[in-house]
Amino acid sequence: MAKVIMIGNQKGGVGKTMISHELCALFVRRGKKVLAIDIDGQRDLSRYSDISFTKKIPTIRDVLLAIKEIKEQSTLGEENTETADYDDFEDNDGDILDKAIQHTRENYDIIIASKKLANAPSDFGEPNDIYLLQEMIGTLTDDYDYIIIDCAPARSPLLYMSYVASDYCICIAEADEGSREGVRQTYTDIALLKEKNTTKVVMLGTLLNKFKDANVQVEQYQALCELGQATNAMPFDAAIPLGVAATEANNKHMCVYEYMKTGNRETKRKAKSLVEQFNKLADEIEERIAALEG
Ligand SMILES: Nc1ncnc2c1ncn2[C@@H]1O[C@H](COP(=O)(O)OP(=O)(O)OP(=O)(O)O)[C@@H](O)[C@H]1O
Ligand SMILES: [Mg+2]
Repeated sequence: MAKVIMIGNQKGGVGKTMISHELCALFVRRGKKVLAIDIDGQRDLSRYSDISFTKKIPTIRDVLLAIKEIKEQSTLGEENTETADYDDFEDNDGDILDKAIQHTRENYDIIIASKKLANAPSDFGEPNDIYLLQEMIGTLTDDYDYIIIDCAPARSPLLYMSYVASDYCICIAEADEGSREGVRQTYTDIALLKEKNTTKVVMLGTLLNKFKDANVQVEQYQALCELGQATNAMPFDAAIPLGVAATEANNKHMCVYEYMKTGNRETKRKAKSLVEQFNKLADEIEERIAALEG
């Protein structure tokens, strides 16, 4: 049964996509089956993964719209069954979900995003649309160990769908107040949904990214600890420094582990510290989930 983890923070540019990609690649190296869902119309994770964009490959938007259509038909009684069969999201040309899942160079699967996700408020504005992603994921949980959702920096219907569909939420934070405000907002959003019994998502932790020096790291870690008391999202001990290796790996559409193998000695040294932190992060994620699930 897959653990579904959303990588969030409404603050833009904090590293959600970079860390989604690294975690997917890392869990695969640990022998896990991983699906990434790019639910951000910027399509950054889809690009990181070096997947080709062709009109023939359905995006997450196409899949969600197909499920919505099936549900609407079922409600209108156009199907002979009382509940629609969500195992197969058939379009005119076969199972749309099967066609949407692509395999990346880093050996995780991905469902890519569409630029048209910018239309989410009108496409997915009905109250029940909040369950669409959960219904899609429900048909996939036996196929994967981890499903990782790379969220957009916006409080749109897609974010609310992610809260509903996820078991855990990890917030990425830079060393600034805007990031911390994003963590607070995430906590508030989740608390409101929990009041309505709409989500079971648990705040798993915050990850400090792009810290510049050790002093800032200590200060920021303390600030995140205080925030963690209020939001149930304690910072991970792992923390990702601001580093040229991250940017260069990103530009080459690689994870830092693969990038480390290609660079010169100095690059290798810098990439190695990032790789170590990502390993530590993955350990902590597994430990926290194991502790929560008993
Ligand atoms: N630790 C790091 N060191 C250096 N650069 C980094 C680091 N983390 C992320 N970056 C760079 O910062 C930029 C933003 O990162 P990323 O796209 O992952 O953020 P994001 O939170 O997904 O942004 P958005 O909110 O727009 O989706 C990218 O160019 C990425 O390579
Ligand atoms: Mg992003």
